[in-house]
Amino acid sequence: MTRNAGSSTQENHFGQLLRVMAEKIVIFCRYYVPIIVLLPYRTLQFFYQIKTQVPIEPKHSSSFITDSEIQSEFAHHAPGVAMMNNGSFGCCPASVISALHQWQLKMLRQPSHFLLNELKNRILESRTIIKDLINAEDVDEVSIVDNISTAAAIVLQQTAWAFAEGKFNKGDAVIMFSCTYGAVKNSIEAYFSRAGGSVIEVPFNFPLNSNEEIISEFRKALEREKGNGRRVRLAVIDHVTCVPTVVMPVKQLVKICREEGVEQVFIDAAHAVGSVDVDMQEIGADFYASTLYKWFFCPPVVSFLYCRKSATHSDLHHPIVSHRYGNGLAEESFWVGSRDYSPYLVLPSVMEFVNRFEGGLKGIIKMNHDAVVEMGKMLAEAWGTNLGCPPDMCASMIMVGLPACLGISSDEDATKLRPHLCDKFGVEVRIHYQAPKDGEVGSTTGYVRICHQIYNKVDDYYKLRDAINQLVRDGFTCALEINEA
Ligand SMILES: Cc1ncc(COP(=O)(O)O)c(C=O)c1O
Repeated sequence: MTRNAGSSTQENHFGQLLRVMAEKIVIFCRYYVPIIVLLPYRTLQFFYQIKTQVPIEPKHSSSFITDSEIQSEFAHHAPGVAMMNNGSFGCCPASVISALHQWQLKMLRQPSHFLLNELKNRILESRTIIKDLINAEDVDEVSIVDNISTAAAIVLQQTAWAFAEGKFNKGDAVIMFSCTYGAVKNSIEAYFSRAGGSVIEVPFNFPLNSNEEIISEFRKALEREKGNGRRVRLAVIDHVTCVPTVVMPVKQLVKICREEGVEQVFIDAAHAVGSVDVDMQEIGADFYASTLYKWFFCPPVVSFLYCRKSATHSDLHHPIVSHRYGNGLAEESFWVGSRDYSPYLVLPSVMEFVNRFEGGLKGIIKMNHDAVVEMGKMLAEAWGTNLGCPPDMCASMIMVGLPACLGISSDEDATKLRPHLCDKFGVEVRIHYQAPKDGEVGSTTGYVRICHQIYNKVDDYYKLRDAINQLVRDGFTCALEINEA
């Protein structure tokens, strides 16, 4: 009895034990298995999302980005402002901003691991995309830097050392056009002129009718200096000038440099990638720097410096010296101290964005060029003025003459008219004062630089047209109105 009772108690205990275990297994399966299985899966999915944003070919189907998708990619732009100044600071679509935030988050989750173990490979991925975009020979020719000012410092500081070390002699020259970007001119002054170099400034006449006008001025200046026995160590040439804007015949200018014995050529191509075709093998320069934040949808600050393999790599250093000093420019540029490197990592997402357009980047370049020419012609006709150069000498920006009665007669007038147009009429454009040539009367002295980027609409340009017409009707002149304001 006792034994039976004992055995039934044991059975009861055993049954209870089984029940408890079964319940625990059910709880475990219901709550923990999903966590154990799904958490790593979701984590992998989150990070893999970033990793899989590798370049894809332009689409060939009806699934191209739609107008409304484009507008929502730029819904963060200030409402009510017609933005026709993409050339100054570019634009960044929402999908790329989101990728930027994902990278920032990924870095902040475990900064040491990310910055010490992962960053280098991610930057290499971006550099490889750039290498392919510009048809460079080797990825080691490509260094990612913040902006053109940094790239110019890298190229120019090696010239200062060359003077200091006796490789260059006092009076050796750098050649540049008068329209060279102000910040780059300052770099020439700070590194080259201060070290004992002289500057040959080639006149850049505007308006222009043909590439030949640019080429002949350049050749003339080089021949003259050669005749004087001057050694030209470096040429600094824009690919797309800022204001007045034109696309320079860089391939021909580099060829002339080679023929005339210029030692190195640096192309400031701030506006190039995303607005013109860029091919390093074709252009043949020693150094070539483009932003990717102006016309290639990257956030500020992403740019690159290409240094041809044959250029003197050993003397090229990033102006910020950090741990990677002496390991080659690309490596030095990958680590310039502790900072947020996320902007450098969005290149795969940018490629994905660009390839949502028919024809990919080439399609965007053509569409922007055609549109800016059409809008430029429309404005010139409405104001009774002219374009600053033939359409085939411009990319996604073009200069349009402004009515003479606005009285733009100094750089100051141009600088003040820009915010006036923005505040009063909600139009963002860049205004340029073009000084008349010696003895010239009646030439156009005021130009507007208009840009076209994928988010622009015809109405933006109508708004500009009407704003200028309104100023003319009101009898506005820069001298009176802006100075009084
Ligand atoms: C010809 C040229 N170079 C350089 C820059 C910009 O330099 P950074 O990227 O250093 O601001 C610009 C900007 O408009 C430019 O037009």
